[in-house]
Amino acid sequence: MPTPPLNTLLRHPANRCGSLDEWLRGNGGKGLEAALRDPAALIPTIKAAGLRGLGGSGFPTYRKWAMVAAQPAGGHRYLICNGNEDEPGTFKDRLLLEESPHQVIEGALIAALATAINHIVFYINPHLKRATETVAAAVAQWQQCDYLQQLSQQLGTELTLEVTASPGHYIAGEESAAIEAVEGHFPFPRGKPPYPAVSGLHGRPTLVNNIETLANVPHIIHQGAAWFQGLGNGTCSGTKIYCVSGDVAAAGAYELPMGTPLQSLIFQHAGGITDERQLKAVFTGGPSNSILTRDELDIALDFDTLKQHHAALGTGAMIVVAEGNPITPHVAKYLDFFANASCGQCPPCTSGTREMARLTKMIASGCGTIDDFKLLSSLSEMLPGSGRCHLIDGAVTVLKSALSHFSHEFQDNLEQR
Ligand SMILES: Cc1cc2nc3c(=O)[nH]c(=O)nc-3n(C[C@H](O)[C@H](O)[C@H](O)COP(=O)(O)O)c2cc1C
Ligand code: SF4
Repeated sequence: MPTPPLNTLLRHPANRCGSLDEWLRGNGGKGLEAALRDPAALIPTIKAAGLRGLGGSGFPTYRKWAMVAAQPAGGHRYLICNGNEDEPGTFKDRLLLEESPHQVIEGALIAALATAINHIVFYINPHLKRATETVAAAVAQWQQCDYLQQLSQQLGTELTLEVTASPGHYIAGEESAAIEAVEGHFPFPRGKPPYPAVSGLHGRPTLVNNIETLANVPHIIHQGAAWFQGLGNGTCSGTKIYCVSGDVAAAGAYELPMGTPLQSLIFQHAGGITDERQLKAVFTGGPSNSILTRDELDIALDFDTLKQHHAALGTGAMIVVAEGNPITPHVAKYLDFFANASCGQCPPCTSGTREMARLTKMIASGCGTIDDFKLLSSLSEMLPGSGRCHLIDGAVTVLKSALSHFSHEFQDNLEQR
């Protein structure tokens, strides 16, 4: 395992600063200067570095950038910096926006230069009041500095920045829903294709990137693709901010090399399980992914390894459950969250999430019947892929994983009845 990097994201004190001057005196500005010297090298460098989307999908960042860059020249192009962050257990983007806004903004400026984007929207959950105010103040400082003029000159058009409140609801973080919201509409996810890179905000090419993804960009451009690759784990490069919560002694956000084993994250960094109990399970990647058990503690927490184990890294949220605490109430709570978050466009999602939440709650509280259990199991088989976006798939994934690892708990609850 390589030594944790000293100058990425949150770890280095020079990345945690208030004023733009401070940022530029420390690590800041170097990535942007390198970008201005050689804009054509940006997409190849991001490709070689292996940066992947850290908003949950793990999609190769260079592919989206290349798709936007390849659109016919002329007219507006947009970047939405996605700071909606409303998933339980995830708080990394809030930290980056509050503690280190300038590296996110610098990353966004470099992304704009790489893809000929002329308008950047910082789209932030309004519940994150301090993050919104911090970014607005930081954007105002960038608007007064020379870099913006240099970028506008390179782009051949004025580069503008805006801070916008998202609707502050989970579904508003889905990329096409975010586009709808920035247009002033209710955040209904759109059907795809067309993809945002081709037709997004106001029908124009639009790049949507997560805050953590963008925060990596200045460092990669400054220090090079090989440096970034060296921090990671084979096909998954760089670092990851893992958010650990639940039954751990030291819940928090830990920026560590991508591929850090679950065991080391929980026991070495997050202080182990509360009251020195045994680990029972981890909701890996937040509530919309699979559950890992204590037999899987050696797993490397990166996109590809987790996929091989039929799990997913998601946003990197790890919600820990100690032995002695039941799983079913957690699952019922998450299904309730998805039912409330469903936007209502797709009947299987709207009624399916509600029904799964109701049945799981009944079973968790000892009031369910065997027929409830059978219906719940059949819904988990029927519903995947039945929605326009992945919300429904997330809800089903966590349920299926609970049914597969903790079926006995569901059965015990039925017997109690
Ligand atoms: C229901 C739902 C909610 C989402 N919420 C967020 C969010 O709050 N922030 C985010 O960056 N991505 C979120 N995503 C993922 C985005 O659709 C998109 O993949 C991401 O912003 C792209 O950025 P990246 O490629 O840098 O990861 C969500 C996806 C779904 C299906
Ligand atoms: S799957 Fe659910 S959240 Fe997604 S568009 Fe359909 S109804 Fe809305």
